[in-house]
Amino acid sequence: MPLTRIHNFSISLDGFATGEPQSAEAPFGHAGQRLHQWMMATRYWAADGTTGVDDAFAERHTPGIGAEIMGANKFGPPGWHDDPDWKGWWGPNPPFHTPTFVLTHHARPPLEMEGGTTFHFLEATPAEALATAREAAGDQDVRIGGGPTVVRDFLAAGLVDHMHLVQVPIVLGRGVRLWDGLEAVEQAFDVEAVSSPSAVTHLTFTRKAP
Ligand SMILES: NC(=O)c1ccc[n+]([C@@H]2O[C@H](COP(=O)([O-])OP(=O)(O)OC[C@H]3O[C@@H](n4cnc5c(N)ncnc54)[C@H](OP(=O)(O)O)[C@@H]3O)[C@@H](O)[C@H]2O)c1
Repeated sequence: MPLTRIHNFSISLDGFATGEPQSAEAPFGHAGQRLHQWMMATRYWAADGTTGVDDAFAERHTPGIGAEIMGANKFGPPGWHDDPDWKGWWGPNPPFHTPTFVLTHHARPPLEMEGGTTFHFLEATPAEALATAREAAGDQDVRIGGGPTVVRDFLAAGLVDHMHLVQVPIVLGRGVRLWDGLEAVEQAFDVEAVSSPSAVTHLTFTRKAP
């Protein structure tokens, strides 16, 4: 049975997955790149990057994924809906290489990009969106790509089988928090943690067998 997975989702010590305000100049607001510096230092990200524990976790992002679901605020900065030419942050060949479903209340026709990524825009419940993405993914897994609002909604709906979180040793103080409304969510999962010499902690949440 294909799984619903989250990878490389980075949060601050106080639980924020992005800072504020989000803008075209600062996609993560005042967090800048601090949430993902651990990943950008790895070979997964850069050819001359590190090959230790951070890389081992980071590279699990891609294999076996047949579709991604993301939120409207990951796809673009505030106001992207009003720009008919906006095609995401990632240039002509986005790093998804699969059907990619953007949850939004401002649907538009699909956008076929280079390299196998097609953005589909849909307004749907998490369960409906997952059913659509599963069909597109065939026998492969579906990745929930973020941001925190969408990850939180999929966790609240009980739709996540495996989640890799990266706790980064910074205190952001403001932004969009992952955990709000998810009291005791960990009880549905087997949780493991691995600390890295880079000072981040990798946490895996694997859904308990029924
Ligand atoms: N820390 C990480 O690892 C990580 C990973 C990915 C992204 N991010 C960051 O997270 C930020 C975005 O996160 P976010 O929490 O602000 O927003 P988000 O989760 O990307 O998107 C939320 C938005 O998606 C639309 N939406 C969500 N559910 C929907 C549904 N069921 N039907 C229709 N539309 C739906 C709504 O936008 P509309 O009503 O406007 O359409 C909603 O405001 C960005 O800064 C991004 O860079 C961080």
